[in-house]
Amino acid sequence: MATDNEHIALMFNDIAPTYDKLNHILSLNVDKSWRRKAVRYLKKAVSAVENPLILDVACGTADSTIKIAEKIVNSKVYGVDISEKMLEIGKEKVEKEGLSDRINFSISRAESLDFQDDTFDAVMVAFGVRNFSDREQGLKEILRVLKPNGTLIVLELSEPQNVIVRWFYNLYFKNVLPLIGKRVSGNSNAYRYLQQTVEKFPMPMEFMSMLKSIGYHEVKHKALSLGLCRIYQANKA
Ligand SMILES: C[S@@+](CC[C@H](N)C(=O)[O-])C[C@H]1O[C@@H](n2cnc3c(N)ncnc32)[C@H](O)[C@@H]1O
Repeated sequence: MATDNEHIALMFNDIAPTYDKLNHILSLNVDKSWRRKAVRYLKKAVSAVENPLILDVACGTADSTIKIAEKIVNSKVYGVDISEKMLEIGKEKVEKEGLSDRINFSISRAESLDFQDDTFDAVMVAFGVRNFSDREQGLKEILRVLKPNGTLIVLELSEPQNVIVRWFYNLYFKNVLPLIGKRVSGNSNAYRYLQQTVEKFPMPMEFMSMLKSIGYHEVKHKALSLGLCRIYQANKA
């Protein structure tokens, strides 16, 4: 029987060819500015390190991975994901950008990362944590592979807390988004699933408590675009 991770990988394999296009359509291109902002946080976190080693977990089609390599020019970046097809598209994009010597990819689950303890100066997870089949185990693994003083940056969609903004958000996310998702990708379940994962994702305070209880320090967050998206930052002691 297929595990949760296998189901999720199959779903992302299925939507991989239209993933980038849909991301930009559904977010009206705002996703690009969210990634840019998260990479700015990451850059600041590793500013004292000469040649930082950075891991992009659930890197998908490498939009976040490429941004990291472009903006942190002295870095070496590793991207991992469970979906072979998402990674294939990511690799093509990285080759096109001429970044293949600075970015390495491998298929790996966040819950069981194939890296030694204390390897990375920073880890990024952009729109991936809510898809982990075992969120706590994934975040523990990330803490294990971070160097002491290393930084985790999580970029994640969230339900806005303002009542009026939430009303529009619900209208769009529950009604419009699955329809466009179905039309462009041909997969109606995937975009319903993605919307449900946002709904089930813990509220900011709860997520930050989870990070602290796992062992992260200096946990903070910033709301972007009226709370539609959030950047979380946490450090390893
Ligand atoms: C919404 S996409 C985000 C991709 C990319 N980071 C971005 O910014 O567009 C979520 C990605 O998480 C991957 N994923 C889901 N569960 C995972 C897990 N347990 N370990 C590693 N990757 C996972 C999926 O295959 C998919 O590529």
